[in-house]
Formats: sequence, C-alpha cells, structure tokens
Amino acid sequence: MLKDKVLTIKNRALEEIKKASTNNALFSLRVKCLGRKSEFNYILKGIKDLSPEEKKNIGQLANEIKKEIENAFFEKEKIIKQKMFDPEKEKIDVTIPGKKISRGHLHILSKVQYEIENIFTSMGFEIADGPEAETEHYNFDVLNIPKNHPARDMQDTFWLKQTIGKDRITMRTSTSAVQVRYMEKHKPPLRTIVPGRCFRREATDSTHDHTFFQFEALMVDENINVGNLKYIAQEFFSKFFKKDVKMRFRPSYFPFTEPSFEFDISCLVCDRKGCSACRGGGWLELGGAGMVNQNVFVAAGYSRNKYQGFAWGLGLERLAMMKYKIDDVRLFHSGDLRFISQF
Ligand code: FA5
Repeated sequence: MLKDKVLTIKNRALEEIKKASTNNALFSLRVKCLGRKSEFNYILKGIKDLSPEEKKNIGQLANEIKKEIENAFFEKEKIIKQKMFDPEKEKIDVTIPGKKISRGHLHILSKVQYEIENIFTSMGFEIADGPEAETEHYNFDVLNIPKNHPARDMQDTFWLKQTIGKDRITMRTSTSAVQVRYMEKHKPPLRTIVPGRCFRREATDSTHDHTFFQFEALMVDENINVGNLKYIAQEFFSKFFKKDVKMRFRPSYFPFTEPSFEFDISCLVCDRKGCSACRGGGWLELGGAGMVNQNVFVAAGYSRNKYQGFAWGLGLERLAMMKYKIDDVRLFHSGDLRFISQF
C-alpha cells in the first residue's frame, strides 16, 4: 500500500515536471514534490517506524524514486535553460549599425548671428547686449523720439503693464535701444554690434513678423563719416555672402540719425527678377542707417559736436533669407521642423 502511494507520487511528479515550462514553475514544483512539507518527505520520515522488512523494501524504493524525480528536475532545468539562451534567438550581430540618436542643432538664426559676430570681431568690433523688455526712456526718449512724436508710429509696439517709476516698459522695437545704454558706459573711440530680438505690433507678411532679430552696429570717434559706414557695410556683405553684393543707400528718416538712409541689397533669391522674398522689387531692404544725431550723443552724456559716428540696424532674418534663399520670414519662428532641420 505504501509502495503504491510512493509510485503514485512519483508518476504525478514526473508528469508535472514534464508540463512545467519556466524556472519559476519548476522551483514551486520542487517544493511541492520534495520539500519539507511534501507528502513524499512525510513518507521518508516515517520509514524509521516500519518493520525491518518494510523498512528495507520501501526505504530502497523511496531512495530510488527520489533520485529519479531529482534527475527529472535536473533534465528539465537544462531544457529550460537551453530555450532561454537559444544561441540562434539570442545571437547579436555587433556589426549592424546602431540606431541613430536624433540630435538637436543650432537654429539657423543662431548660426547667422555667430557668423555675423565673427565677421565684426575680425574688424575690431565688440559684441554688446541689452534687455528685450526695455524702458520707454531707452527705446524712444533718448533716441530723439519724444512722447506724442509721430515718429513713434513707425514702430508700433507692445507695452507691458509694469512700469519703473514713471517709465513705461515696452518690448524693444529695435536694437537701437541699446545705443545710449552702451555709450553711457563706454567713451569713444568705440565700435560695437548688438545682435538681439525685437518686437513690433505688425500685420505680418512674407517680410514682416511680430518677432524678429536685428543687429545694431555703432562706430563713434572724432571723425567717422558716411564713407566709413559704406566701407564697413560693403566689407560685411562681401564677407557674409562670400561674393560682391550690389548695395544701395536711399535717403530716409530716423529721428536718431542725421542724415539717415535705408539700405538695400540686390535680391539674391531671384537675382533681381522679382520674387516673394523681395516682394517683386528685385531689391530687399535690409536695414536703416545714418550718422548718429548729436541729440543722442548728448543723451548719452557726450558733449555736443565733439564726436561723429554711424549706426545701423539690420534685419537678421532678411540676411538669412538672402543667403539661404528663404522666401518667407515667418518660417524662422514657425517651429516647423521641416524648415528648421534643413539648416
Ligand atoms: C530700425 O529699426 C532702426 N532702428 C534702424 C536704424 C538703426 C536706423 C541705426 C538708423 C540707425 P527699421 O524699422 O527700418 O529701422 O528696421 C530695420 C530692419 O529691421 C529692416 O530693414 C528689416 O530688415 C528689419 N525689420 C524691421 N521690421 C521687421 C519685421 N517686422 N520683421 C522682420 N524684419 C524686420
């Protein structure tokens, strides 16, 4: 009877071992079949109380069965291990190229800005900076644009709710706002450029956006004249575009320069045939320029008529449009990766 019980335990154990397919299942099964609290262990423990004859028969049989079950466990473990580490399934081809991690890169406008900075530092200019949220004082008043002056309409702007004392705060409309800030801290001779973001309340089109970059150039000494302005501009354009570019000055009006100019370059997108980048005209207005108005020098604390200097403000996007043949300024700030990742 005990013999039958031991044989039934064995058959059941072998059957269950056959079905087990994972290491975990095999582990639980081992506890169940051979563990301390298993039926089989109780039988082994009770052998000592059997008659000498039974002790001999059952003892021997039980030991053989235990070995058989352990052997079955051992074999099954090997099979499971083999499946887990099937060399065919597991093999790694170390020569396959890895998955490419997509990397960010500088925005086209940053690249253009660094290019401009390199050209100007090579000509002895310093790079300066100023705040984007600017006081009415630096954005308008010191630039010879008093309150209620019609020239304020040329640059319609965004006003912030905050004020500094009576001074209202605006998102700067041009980098010219840094002119007096810089001159208050530096005395001539001086040469600087100020790249930076500007804001205007614009009806946008292919050449106008509400947010855009300019870079101001300012050169002041006792005898700087329009010839210096023209030379530096020509030098800059040929270095930036790496070819001779046609440039023209048109008379214009800015309250902070006298005389004032608007300057254009021939459209490099269409070669002056007319396209959306130049809005059909063959020329693209890149910026305003002129000889610094003496009132601006006085606002900066310089003596009237002691110095002369030129200043200009160029649109960074418009330069990039010409160099990279981009026909709509609104693409730069669109955040569209199809555009951004081309550069
Ligand atoms: C000015 O902003 C003057 N501060 C420039 C200046 C500086 C004159 C120093 C004299 C001395 P203007 O508004 O024309 O001028 O703008 C200069 C350039 O900035 C434009 O020619 C254009 O290239 C760029 N720009 C102006 N408004 C926009 C806009 N809404 N979107 C894109 N670019 C613009």
